[in-house]
Amino acid sequence: MPLASIFEHMIFPIKNLLLYFLIYSFIVGCSTSIEDISSNVGVIGDSAMVASAHPLASQVGVDIMRKGGNAFDAAVAVQFALAVVYPRAGNIGGGGFAVIRESNGNIASLDFREKAPSLASKDMYLDINGEVIQGKSTVGRLACGVPGTVDGMYRLHEKYGSMSMSELIQPSIFLADQGFILTADEAQNLNRFQEDFKANNSWAIPTIKETAWQEGDSIYYKELAVTLSLIRDMGRAGFYEGIIADQIVKDLRRGGGIMTMEDLANYESKWREPVVGQYRNHKIISMPPPSSGGVALIQLLRGSEKYSFDNWGHNTPKTMHAMIELERRVYADRATYLGDPDYYEVPQEMLLSDEYLEERFSDIALNKKTDSKAIKEGIEGAIESVETTHFSIVDPFGNAIAITTTLNNYFGNKVMVKGAGFFLNDEMDDFSLKPGVPNQFGLIGAEANAIAPNKRMLSSMTPTIVEKDGRLLMLTGTPGGATIITSVYQTILNVIDHGMTMQESVNAKRFHHQWLPDKVLFEEGGFDPKVISELTELGHNLELIDGLGRMDCILVMEDGKLEGASDITRGNNTSLGF
Ligand code: DON
Repeated sequence: MPLASIFEHMIFPIKNLLLYFLIYSFIVGCSTSIEDISSNVGVIGDSAMVASAHPLASQVGVDIMRKGGNAFDAAVAVQFALAVVYPRAGNIGGGGFAVIRESNGNIASLDFREKAPSLASKDMYLDINGEVIQGKSTVGRLACGVPGTVDGMYRLHEKYGSMSMSELIQPSIFLADQGFILTADEAQNLNRFQEDFKANNSWAIPTIKETAWQEGDSIYYKELAVTLSLIRDMGRAGFYEGIIADQIVKDLRRGGGIMTMEDLANYESKWREPVVGQYRNHKIISMPPPSSGGVALIQLLRGSEKYSFDNWGHNTPKTMHAMIELERRVYADRATYLGDPDYYEVPQEMLLSDEYLEERFSDIALNKKTDSKAIKEGIEGAIESVETTHFSIVDPFGNAIAITTTLNNYFGNKVMVKGAGFFLNDEMDDFSLKPGVPNQFGLIGAEANAIAPNKRMLSSMTPTIVEKDGRLLMLTGTPGGATIITSVYQTILNVIDHGMTMQESVNAKRFHHQWLPDKVLFEEGGFDPKVISELTELGHNLELIDGLGRMDCILVMEDGKLEGASDITRGNNTSLGF
């Protein structure tokens, strides 16, 4: 079908637009939201909450639940909405993970992570001398894994949805077609990537503009609206087969891409057993491999149990030192043992066993740091700040879902599929391109995470749900590449050990260590110089960083109400509830 006739195919009666606008405005008026960054408490809702990276996406989720939809319906709608209003990370051209807890306590996790194309090979990013070719796995048409998001949303809906898929996609079609107004942060972000957009797309795409984007400008994604309409009308086949699949493959071929129509048609997301652990009488439910997040988080929390962080205090040198030493060991395990469990036997049970953890952390000394090289040899690399996005939803029925979803870098590989209007991922960089050589997050890996056809690349994304006494307590998650795991770890400690509200826990300044490079990143403006000098005396190498993570979390308070806490100090993240 030629693209022109797809436009005809997209019928959007004006009365529906008006109706949607009226409902939308009504809900904006009724939903609870605060913008006061000095507040110690987040947004309070009686029974429903959405915390996401963008106010319009949160609004779409709230809207769905107001109409009687459950958290899973809302999640599908928010995922599609983020693909429009937050295209730097929200996506249909990427992938992600969902962790689910139903109101009856049943838990599940969905893996809609991208896969390597079937023509991928272990050395595909190496030159003839066996060296990694810089940029080939991060920018452009060879960087792209087979996208999982659309299939994932259909799987999620098939198992848990109560509204029609068409009702859940419609708000995104509206936003893409009718446009929306940019915030200052979004305008600045689009300006920052103009050169990349131009270098990778030699035709007009909506994000390219000759003069600088300004706060208050409108942006329209007309072709994306058409693509979303095809998905709405044809289901997963609207994306993985037919004209859109054809466009993806053709566009990738333009620049050396290797994805085939069969790769797209054969993509399948997977239900996996969530990884579960205990921490001080709380049940931690998180994402298993191919994410490293859940295993690493539970290792960190188990290791934390022997320390009295509550007495030692939040972000004191003693507490931070112990946390850093745990992180050093856990990230070394990540590099060695974690990968796609369908291709590599991940020793998950061993990594989480009491005996192993007891032994693993037994050499931590509280009066000096361990040299990372003494734990395992490795090569140092850089950690860059890049983008992904997380959202958390609780519905009036008591269901909960935490989703982290990504294109990997900002706007993925920077290629917007010609005629289809969405960016593709650069997730292939999450593989270990060569044993011991760091990826863009400074993470190194080995055989467990080597490239193989159809394999999933290892992730750090850590959507997590916490239970206390058999009841839902908290949902947490964030972007941040390698730093995701330690940010999630800190939000949990902040609530459980330090008695913070959800908003205080999200606002609190964060730090990060990942074994290699052997340095502690810490956020500006939150750490007393005395803390820094004491940590330096213990041997740590500290380095300032602009910001760590953008959390979107929900806490069930003692009275049963919900506290939505979004990272309002670090982004436009917004909690909305009722
Ligand atoms: O799956 C992963 O771990 C990475 N692709 C996530 C990238 C990311 O979080 C970038 N964000 N800031």
